[in-house]
Amino acid sequence: MEIYREIYLDKNSPQHLYMQLFQKIRQLIIEEKLKANQKLPPIRQLANALGVNTSTIVNAYSLLEKEGFVYKKIGSGTFVSAKQDDDLSDELLKKYPLDEDIRLMDRGQIQIKENMISFASATPTSDLFPVEDFKILLNEVLDRDKGDAFGYQESQGYYPLRESLVNYLEEINIKTKPENIQIISGAQQGIDVISKALIDYKDTIIVESPTYTGAIGTFRSRGAKIISVPILNDGVDIKILEEKIQEYKPKLIYLMPNFQNPTGYSYSKEKKLKIIDLAEKYNTLIVEDDYLSDLSFYSEDNTTLKSLDRNDSVIYIKSFSKIFMPGLRLGFLVIPKKIHHRILAAKHTSDISTSGLNQRVFDLYLRKGIWKKHIRYMEKIYKERFDVMKSCIDKYFKDIEVQYYLPQGGLNFWFSLPEGYDSNKLYVEASKNNILILPGSIFFISKKESKCFRLSIASVYPKDIEIGIKSLSNVIKNLIEKDTNKRKRLDTYTPLL
Ligand SMILES: Cc1ncc(COP(=O)(O)O)c(C=O)c1O
Repeated sequence: MEIYREIYLDKNSPQHLYMQLFQKIRQLIIEEKLKANQKLPPIRQLANALGVNTSTIVNAYSLLEKEGFVYKKIGSGTFVSAKQDDDLSDELLKKYPLDEDIRLMDRGQIQIKENMISFASATPTSDLFPVEDFKILLNEVLDRDKGDAFGYQESQGYYPLRESLVNYLEEINIKTKPENIQIISGAQQGIDVISKALIDYKDTIIVESPTYTGAIGTFRSRGAKIISVPILNDGVDIKILEEKIQEYKPKLIYLMPNFQNPTGYSYSKEKKLKIIDLAEKYNTLIVEDDYLSDLSFYSEDNTTLKSLDRNDSVIYIKSFSKIFMPGLRLGFLVIPKKIHHRILAAKHTSDISTSGLNQRVFDLYLRKGIWKKHIRYMEKIYKERFDVMKSCIDKYFKDIEVQYYLPQGGLNFWFSLPEGYDSNKLYVEASKNNILILPGSIFFISKKESKCFRLSIASVYPKDIEIGIKSLSNVIKNLIEKDTNKRKRLDTYTPLL
């Protein structure tokens, strides 16, 4: 790989050049674009190619060596170290034969074989995508804007769409202006852009435990230290959160206050207000990932933190993937004034701009009120799946030793096996019965064994929910019974002869 082409150093950035170089090379190693034992370019050659002093390269290589990403061979140069994949617990991989599946899941992918009922994916089934409406609006945009729809778009986003989003936000009590909105190519990019703009190597980020896997990956790729705070069914443990803030002085606190992924828990209004107080008291930025607050079937309160934000300390991320079409790659941020320019620079160096064509079509969606019709339709479909899931859980899980807390909305349900059981084992057994679940281990920072697992209803039709939950309850029963028998056998006494 031609490493020079992959590296861009920003001489105007407040971040040291050697640190930028270190982060870039480390990222190339993590993404395996630089392979184990591959030689890095000689110091002088790289310095010339990048137009920097040799000391910049020396310092970056030294830091990479200190962190175990590269090794030096005297007289030969600097080489990429063999193993960088610390995301997975080796213990876990050794224990389960389906290594590749668990490894894939850890990277946000899942293999769905034919005839499988997948409670693993939180993506809508494609029959829910409003293709016909989209086609009509797409043609309208093409007739109206012609070639302009295909030009480079302003990095911050198509201005009329930002105006429409201001109105959309007003309906959920978030008052803002187009200049505070940054269009992004999906919430995942939002997390990435925020990280690029704000996180330096070894900064601390506080997250909920468990949390969204994609966020863990992004924070890790910036070299952040990730500290987790347990989440309860009414939000994070506030006492522990405050202690961790005092101890670590985090750069960011990443939270999902409504229908958290993976637990489905929502924060109480009281906790939401306390979080805002803490952000103000400790002058910390909160990242609110709102990927699902629209689907509040039974909850009385799905207030966003951003709507309570008095001090401009919440970065709000909105994804439309679960309620619209994930392949459009469209979302937005509402950003505090003090970080506008950093976010814009990070977005620009990521992909220049989100597709202008998609932004224009989505703008018409909002302006013409078609969005409201669409969201009501999605709510209806998902609520039906949600209700079937709830009644199946009541029916099939009530006699087995599984704990759960039924959420008030959203798409995810979180369960816990009895102490000592590992949901990776359940994943393996359920797969043999054509049921796909997500083991909890991937949602924890340590990636160690977990008794918890997540079931999502986004891509399962109601009749399959019933078949799947019934079959899963039998798998769980067998798993627990087998172990109980084992336990019993161990407990029986044999004569001492
Ligand atoms: C909590 C959370 N944030 C962000 C994302 C990424 O969403 P997008 O498709 O908008 O990038 C997901 C996707 O599952 C998610 O669950």
